[in-house]
Amino acid sequence: MKIQTLAFAAAAFISSAALAQQNVEVLHWWTSGGEAAALNVLKSNLEKQGVKWNDMPVAGGGGEAAMTAVRARVTSGNPPTAVQMLGFDITDWAKQNVLADLNELAAKEGWDKSVPKALQQFSKHNGKWVAAPVNVHSTNWVWANKEVLTKAGVTTEPRTWDEFIAAAEKVQKAGFVALAHGGQPWQEATVFDGVVLATGGVDYYRKAFIERDPATLASPTTEKVFQRMSQLRKLVDKDFSGRDWNVASGMVISGKAGFQIMGDWAKGEFINAKKVPGKDFLCFRIPGTQGSVTFNSDQFVMYKVGADKAAAQTKLAGAILDPAFQSAFNVVKGSAPARTDVSDAAFDACGKKAIKDLAEANSKNTLVGSIAHGHAAPASVKSAFYDVITRHFNGQLDDKKAAAALVAAAKS
Ligand code: GAL
Repeated sequence: MKIQTLAFAAAAFISSAALAQQNVEVLHWWTSGGEAAALNVLKSNLEKQGVKWNDMPVAGGGGEAAMTAVRARVTSGNPPTAVQMLGFDITDWAKQNVLADLNELAAKEGWDKSVPKALQQFSKHNGKWVAAPVNVHSTNWVWANKEVLTKAGVTTEPRTWDEFIAAAEKVQKAGFVALAHGGQPWQEATVFDGVVLATGGVDYYRKAFIERDPATLASPTTEKVFQRMSQLRKLVDKDFSGRDWNVASGMVISGKAGFQIMGDWAKGEFINAKKVPGKDFLCFRIPGTQGSVTFNSDQFVMYKVGADKAAAQTKLAGAILDPAFQSAFNVVKGSAPARTDVSDAAFDACGKKAIKDLAEANSKNTLVGSIAHGHAAPASVKSAFYDVITRHFNGQLDDKKAAAALVAAAKS
């Protein structure tokens, strides 16, 4: 073969190798309409940069199924480029020394200054950035169908727990489902986040569920939390068992149900269905939790990958923290940006409130990690809590027994 031909073949080989490098394999659980729409913003941003997106969806809110899938991949020595992950799960993986080091990019782009400390607690491990936070969600929200409330004679937004229960009972009496709910452990735990906060306040929440102080957990407040969960249980329809969260959101969107208690990813479903906040639906903090926020932040954990994949991985991490992307993505997702320097101009009324509430809670120290979404305790404790909360919701434990079981679960 002539020298030129060889050189040409080598160049062609190198450029096809370079092209082959430009792809990312991303594992996530964003499979609902609103979630997929938000993820598309990221996919298309990367495609514009020449990075191909290999999608690995594993359905299931809260990410339990996704976490099982990740374990299998990492154990077989073939981790994806990036994985959607929550709170303590990130720390667990970081401890195993299998995550990438994003410090060079983080320093160049000033992540230390722009990402809230509450998120950095999980994005960094031993001073090393290992994950790129994409949003801040919060779980203490109620979503309501405006027309249903009007038809049921609910004319003002409930401000206290008792007002909320009274309003829901009115909705039920008017022939609607009062509370749209999906009977899956993580959804029951999501409701529980807000009930804990509404019942015991932020100090109790922190002491009982983050510090897991046995005396606080064993106090009468915990039993009261379960009494309130029992009140909610009477407000759901008979077909709640196993229902997906977005199907429950759909019941509020279509006017079958009055309320849903769910994190603000629910707003993604309303927006995806072309509904307008204030006109078609209402968003308000769970009565009794105003001024506090139970947060969870989706982060893309970057695994250690071969040199052939590292460039695309860096592009992905950079694209996630890009301020313009953070605005565009979170407008669709229902969450607040994971940076404090992103304007709220493009956000709707619920989004503006989410951003404002988050900043206020952060400055007043009333921002606490979601129990349900892995920001209060490691996965083993979270799962033990899920078990108690779900058994209680399904009538297998009474209020008193559930409170006692929770004390034991905290020791998992
Ligand atoms: C949460 C996640 C949200 C949302 C939800 C339902 O754990 O943080 O982004 O997608 O699950 O799938």
